[in-house]
Amino acid sequence: MSNLLVTGGAGFIGTNFIRFWRSRHPDDYIVNLDALTYAGHRENLSDLEGDPRYEFVHGNIGSYDLVYGIMKVCKIDTVVNFAAETHVDRSLAGPDAERLFYETNLMGTLTLLRAAREAGVPRFHQISTDEVFGDLPLDRPDLKFHEGYPYSPNSPYAISKATADFAVRGFFRTHGLPGITTSNCTNNYGRYQTPEKLIPRAIALLNAGQKVKLYTDEHGVPGKNVRDWLHVEDHCGAIEAILLRGKIGETYCIGGESELSNYQLVERMLAIMSEITGKSLSMEANVELVADRPGHDLRYAMDISNIRRELGWQPKHTFESGFRSTVEWYTSPEGRLWLEGVSGNTEQVREGQNRTLPQQRK
Ligand SMILES: NC(=O)c1ccc[n+]([C@@H]2O[C@H](COP(=O)([O-])OP(=O)(O)OC[C@H]3O[C@@H](n4cnc5c(N)ncnc54)[C@H](O)[C@@H]3O)[C@@H](O)[C@H]2O)c1
Repeated sequence: MSNLLVTGGAGFIGTNFIRFWRSRHPDDYIVNLDALTYAGHRENLSDLEGDPRYEFVHGNIGSYDLVYGIMKVCKIDTVVNFAAETHVDRSLAGPDAERLFYETNLMGTLTLLRAAREAGVPRFHQISTDEVFGDLPLDRPDLKFHEGYPYSPNSPYAISKATADFAVRGFFRTHGLPGITTSNCTNNYGRYQTPEKLIPRAIALLNAGQKVKLYTDEHGVPGKNVRDWLHVEDHCGAIEAILLRGKIGETYCIGGESELSNYQLVERMLAIMSEITGKSLSMEANVELVADRPGHDLRYAMDISNIRRELGWQPKHTFESGFRSTVEWYTSPEGRLWLEGVSGNTEQVREGQNRTLPQQRK
């Protein structure tokens, strides 16, 4: 039996992770610490509220006293750090935005590490991204990121995550505690993703009868950027494998082996939505081409042979079935209601208001 502190558990992957972990480890106790920024939705897990093995705490990972208090009072033995500012476009919005990314992603992670060490928490897993590696050329399909690939982050988001990875590694090297692991994962898709990200945003626009926006390069080529897509439940499975069998001090690369250009992804989405709705949707009629964002990474792709060999993990979902069920959910009454409910939630709420610690664990 374990007592987990999951940070950022009201966000996309954190929500899915808490559901995944509870289904596989029903006796474990989970504290979900989340600042409820525009990207955090407590109601994602409202069915768990009142359960003695689940506690939601509204607060900031950068508040030392709060996180140390949770770790002590709840006898936390494992921290899984999802909490982050995650949207690349937002990180490009100027110095205030950049500061927020570093405060949360780097300084917040360091605060968690310090608190974990002081509170004697033995295990800490840092959730990171493939974006720390920079990007790959479009014309070299043989090249992929892997655990030994050099870091070369481009956006403020990627730089803040890369520096956090270094901080986690260096903290362990210096202090030896908590026992850390890190994972760098490719793009996730699935339920509960905030609709500023490509897939839910595109579906929300189509649900509302509007056009999908697709970035176009300076030569007018639309959606050429390639991403390696992984179903969020497979990401959760990989994190579980690392928590249960991963080697302390190691980094694991996670990916879906499903490379698609954004153009191909939107094309597939339109085809599935045409089938679901009975309306004929096409790239010509339902897509609006917009100017590219600065420094847009070209291609991400991951070599997952290490985690496959060492931990026996590999994706269970095929892109075809996983993506179809994802599109089906966002177009279902439940998914549409969820999208509508979170769409207006753009205000940044920084500090937690409910900073009360959970009841002492026996
Ligand atoms: N989404 C992806 O495709 C992807 C891929 C690889 C890695 N990641 C990493 O996975 C993690 C989760 O990503 P996501 O897509 O679920 O993000 P998300 O934006 O959906 O959720 C982030 C959550 O963190 C919370 N949060 C933000 N600042 C906080 C703070 N200071 N204290 C406490 N909580 C705070 C937010 O309220 C939100 O609930 C991030 O670390 C991200 O870098 C994401």
